[in-house]
This record gives sequence, structure tokens and C-alpha cells, in this order.
Amino acid sequence: MKKLLASYGRDDEFRAVAEQIILEEEQKNNRVLARSLRQTLDHASNRAPPPRALAPLIPFPDAANDFVERVEPEHKGDIVLSKANIRIFSGLIQEFRRADDIRRSGLPVRSKLLFCGPPGCGKTLCTEIFAGELGLPLFVVKIDRLISSYLGETATNIRKIFEFARKQPCVLFLDEFDALARSRDDTSEHNELRRVVNSLLIFIDRIKPKGFLVAATNLDQSLDPAVWRRFDEVIWFEKPDREMIEHFLALKFKNIKTAFDPVSHVGSLDGYSFAEIERICVQAIKAAVIERRKEVRELDLCHAVADEIRRRSGTARLQHLED
Ligand SMILES: Nc1ncnc2c1ncn2[C@@H]1O[C@H](COP(=O)(O)OP(=O)(O)O)[C@@H](O)[C@H]1O
Ligand SMILES: [Mg+2]
Repeated sequence: MKKLLASYGRDDEFRAVAEQIILEEEQKNNRVLARSLRQTLDHASNRAPPPRALAPLIPFPDAANDFVERVEPEHKGDIVLSKANIRIFSGLIQEFRRADDIRRSGLPVRSKLLFCGPPGCGKTLCTEIFAGELGLPLFVVKIDRLISSYLGETATNIRKIFEFARKQPCVLFLDEFDALARSRDDTSEHNELRRVVNSLLIFIDRIKPKGFLVAATNLDQSLDPAVWRRFDEVIWFEKPDREMIEHFLALKFKNIKTAFDPVSHVGSLDGYSFAEIERICVQAIKAAVIERRKEVRELDLCHAVADEIRRRSGTARLQHLED
């Protein structure tokens, strides 16, 4: 086990040690375990190759610990992207891998991305998967905390975070970027706060990240044009169209037995976000588990959709009350 861990990041060595463990288990006559290990190893080697070089980590400044969190990208499964976004992300990944050549040719490398779109459509998920694909560590900046922190120190903290991202190849993720845009708009805010927000924008402007700076927002048109301009690429995460819903349903029910064709329900899921459709699928599958059935029935899915509609109308009513 120690040898296995020591080989982390070196694929050939990892394989050799894993093979050795399997062989030992076979010799000990632990055939079931050996077979299962072999299957896992074979399956792992079919996946996309791991990033060639894992980026070295430099220590994170203590003072920024309250505002930035290192996130281990979890691969919570596959992501469904529009064709346009698949093209954009493949381009960005290729550009990153050839960054030195591109720079040597005197051309700029895109590194500041703005993700826009309604909630639950994959902005956060995509950032995690993107960082994983690039083999870069992911750091999430907690903007709300940064802004509400003691104002005198905020500018210093922002500088530390950006100084860090300038040296450390990473994906620096400004999630809920709306908080920033809102506070810039809000005229009732303290002048000092506005100054801090502006200084954050200037930092974004100046930074040339070694990896990527990604900001995500649920707002679209209402975002200040002064904010837009600072990004090399603006990427839209819209609610899924029918083709994407079909793809998503096929993924969610990939390993689940159903007494019906989930894809035939694409029409009734039109207009929902991925997160909502995911919740519908999970509820339908859970109904079968609770009743110890081997199959998910059409009625399970219909009930889950009905629950989501009810939930939505509740949210709409709440919004109406707020208006
Ligand atoms: N494009 C997508 N493909 C697959 N699953 C998705 C997608 N978008 C959202 N999901 C599901 O919904 C969850 C919430 O999405 P998230 O990325 O947090 O949305 P956002 O950041 O846009 O609000 C994800 O963890 C995932 O389970
Ligand atoms: Mg999000």
C-alpha cells in the first residue's frame, strides 16, 4: 500500500505495484479479490490519461485562509455540455497545453473566464471538472466573506490571493461573482466598500494567471459591462435543450433498471435546470429503493416531476410575495 501511494502521479510505477499486489492476492488464493482488483485496474486504464505533470503546490498565505478554500475536484459524474461549450473547452485545454508555444509566438493565452447562466446548469461542476482535466489545483474564493470582512484589510487580502494565483498554477474560482457586481451597483453602499470592489476589478484586469481565473454568475444582462470586458472568454451555461435532457437522462439511468424508457419523458422536463432534473431522477430512483423494487416505474418519475412542479410553484409564490 505504501509503495502504491508513493507511486502517485507516476503511472507506470503505479501499474507495476498494482500488478504486484494482484499477483500476491492470486498466490494467496484470494481469487475474488484479485479478479475484482484486476477489473478495477483495467477499467482505470481505459479512462482518459491522467494529467502528465501534477502542478507543484506552493504554500498558501495564512492570512487568506478565511477567504479561499482548496477544493479537491470530485468527479461527481459526467457533465452534459452544449456543442458550442464542448468546442470552447477543448480549445481552452489545448491552448493551456501549448501555452508556451503560443506565448513564444507573441500571442495571448486565454486565461480569464466568466461563466454565466441560471443556477443549477453546471457552472460550479464544470469548473471542478475543468480543473481536474487540466491537472490544476482548484481554489475557491469566498467573495461574500471577502467583501464583508474588515474593510481595511480586504484590499490586502485580495492582493495576497492574487499574488498567490500569479505564482501558483491553479484554477482560482470566484463563485457567486454576482455578490461583487451587486455591491458595485448598490449606491447605498459605503464608499470604502466600493473602493475595495473596484480594486478587485483592477486586480482581475491586471492578473495574468498561471492557470485560470474563473468567475461564475447567475446574472446576465444586469452585469456591469465594466466587469465583462475584463474576461478573455464569456461562457454561457443555459438550461438544457431537448437533446441535452435526453443525454442527461440516459446518463442518470445508465445503471438503473427501468420499466419504461426515461428518454420518452424529455418533453415533460423541458424548461428545468440540470439540478432540477437531477433531483427528479434521484427521487424517482429512491422511490424504487424504498419499496425494494428492482425497477423504477414510470409512475415514480411522474410523481417526482409532480413534486418538482409543486416545489417550483411554491418558489414562484414566495418570489411573488417578495415582489
Ligand atoms: N451540465 C450539467 N451536466 C450534468 N450535471 C449537471 C449539469 N449542471 C448541473 N448539474 C447537476 O446539478 C448540480 C448543481 O450544479 P452546479 O454546477 O452547482 O450549478 P451552478 O453552479 O450553475 O448553479 C451538479 O452538481 C450536477 O449534479
Ligand atoms: Mg454554482
